[in-house]
Amino acid sequence: MPVHPTTVALPTAAPDPRHRPRYHFLPPANWLNDPNGLIHWNGEYHLFYQYNPAGPFHALIHWGHAVSADLVHWRHLPLALAPEPGGPDELGCWSGCAVDHDGVPTLVYSGNSAVGQRACVATSADGMQTWQKFAGNPVIAAPPPGLDLVEYRDHTIWQEDAVWYQLIGSGIRGAGGAALLYRSADLYAWEYVGPLCVGDARTTAPVWTGSMWECPDFFELGGQHVLAVSVWDAGQLYYPVAFVGDYARHAFTPARLGKLDYGSSFYAPQTFRDASGRRVMFGWMREQRDEAAQRAAGWSGAMSLPRILALGAAGVLEQRPAPELEQLRGRHIHAQAVGVAETNALLAGVSSDTIEIMLELAPGDAAEVGALMLRSPDGAEQTRLSYHCAERRLALDTTRASLSGSAHGGVDSGPLELAAGEPLRLRIFVDRSIVEVFANERACVSGRAYPTRESSAGLELFASGGSATVVALDAWELGAIW
Ligand code: FRU
Repeated sequence: MPVHPTTVALPTAAPDPRHRPRYHFLPPANWLNDPNGLIHWNGEYHLFYQYNPAGPFHALIHWGHAVSADLVHWRHLPLALAPEPGGPDELGCWSGCAVDHDGVPTLVYSGNSAVGQRACVATSADGMQTWQKFAGNPVIAAPPPGLDLVEYRDHTIWQEDAVWYQLIGSGIRGAGGAALLYRSADLYAWEYVGPLCVGDARTTAPVWTGSMWECPDFFELGGQHVLAVSVWDAGQLYYPVAFVGDYARHAFTPARLGKLDYGSSFYAPQTFRDASGRRVMFGWMREQRDEAAQRAAGWSGAMSLPRILALGAAGVLEQRPAPELEQLRGRHIHAQAVGVAETNALLAGVSSDTIEIMLELAPGDAAEVGALMLRSPDGAEQTRLSYHCAERRLALDTTRASLSGSAHGGVDSGPLELAAGEPLRLRIFVDRSIVEVFANERACVSGRAYPTRESSAGLELFASGGSATVVALDAWELGAIW
C-alpha cells in the first residue's frame, strides 16, 4: 500500500460536541461541499472535497483530500488543489472527478475564473501526495458554440474501448438541464459530441428537474445506465435526481426518474466503482442553520454515509448503507414481535445522539407509523420520521428539531410504495445534527437537526389511528470514525 504523509494539521475549529457529527466525514474545521474525485486506488479509498481553508463559508474553493482503507475511518491528507492567481482556476477549483489514466491518477475539475468554469486537468506522479496542473489548462477553452447555455461546469469521465467520454453539467435556455457529451483520445484534447440528455424545466412529474444540472455522474448498474444530476435553478440548489435507462451508441434513453433523497440536505452526490465492483456514492450533507450559526460553529457541511447502489426489480434504484459501517456498532438493544408501547418501554432508557436504528414495522391498521429521534423528554424538541400508509409517503419532519431560531426545519417527503404484506424496513442513522434514513432499500430521506437541550437524545416509536407491530428493532450506539 502507498505510504502517505502522517496526519496533516488542517485548521481546527472550536469543539462543537452538540452538533458536530462523529461518524460522518468532515474536515477538522471550515467549509465543505461536494465530494470530488472519488476513486479506489491501490487498495485505498480517496475522497476529495470542495473545501475553503479560510472559514466555514463558500469562497475560494480548494480540493481537500482524505484517504481510507475501509471506507469508514479517514485520514486527512494535504490539500490537493489550490486556486492559482492569474490561472484559469484563480477563483476556485470547483467540482470534478478522478480517473486512472494508464496508471497516472488524473483529476478533471472546473477551474473557476472571471469567464466562468472551464475544464482543467491535474495529475500526480507520487501516488496522489502532490498534484501538478497541466500547463495547457483549460483543456476545453469555451462551451460548445451555438448553444444558449445556463451555466456550464462539473465532470464525469469514463472509457469505452480506447476512447474517453466526458459529461459536463449545463442547462439549455428555454429547455432544461443538460448533460453535454465530449470525447477524447487522451483526456487533454476534447471534441464536443452533443447533449447526452436534456431535461424539460416545465415538467413537474414525476420530478421537476430545474433549468440546470450540476455534478453529472453516469455509470452502468445492473445492466442499465444511471445518469445522476443535481437540480439547480436560478442560483438555488434543489436535490439530486437519477434517470435510469438504456445507453447504446452514445445515446441515452431514460425510462425512470426519481429523487436520490427526499430531504433538503443531501446534494451533489458522486459515485465510483470500487475494486470489488460495488457502486459507492457519497453526497454533501448541507447545513440547515443560518450562516451566523455556521460561522459560530467554525465548520459547515459533512459527507453522507457511503451508500451502495444497486438496481432492483423493474429498474428501481436501491441504496444501502455500506456494510463496513457495522464495525462502528457498540452498545445494543433488541426487541422482537411486540407492540409499540412495549417497545417504547424498552426505549425509555435510550439516550443517544450517535445511534443506528434498524426497525421493521408492520403497520397493521395504523394510519401513520414512525419514530421520534433526538427527542426531549417533554417532546418539545424532536425529529419525526413517519410513513403515511394511505398516501404511501415517507416523511421527515424537522420543524420541531430545534428550538433555536437559527435552524430552519421543514417537512420533506416522497413516495414509498409497500407491496401487500411488505413491512416498513427502516435504517436510521442519527449523528448529532445529521439524520440519514434508508427505507426498504429504495427511498432515502436525510435532514439536519440542531437540538438545543442536552436531554434531546431520546428515541420513541409511534403508531396513530390503529395498532402496528414491531417485527424487530435493533439499536446500536455508534462509535466515532476518528
Ligand atoms: C455544487 C456546485 C458545483 C460546483 C461546486 C462549487 O454544489 O455548485 O456545481 O462545481 O459546487 O463549489
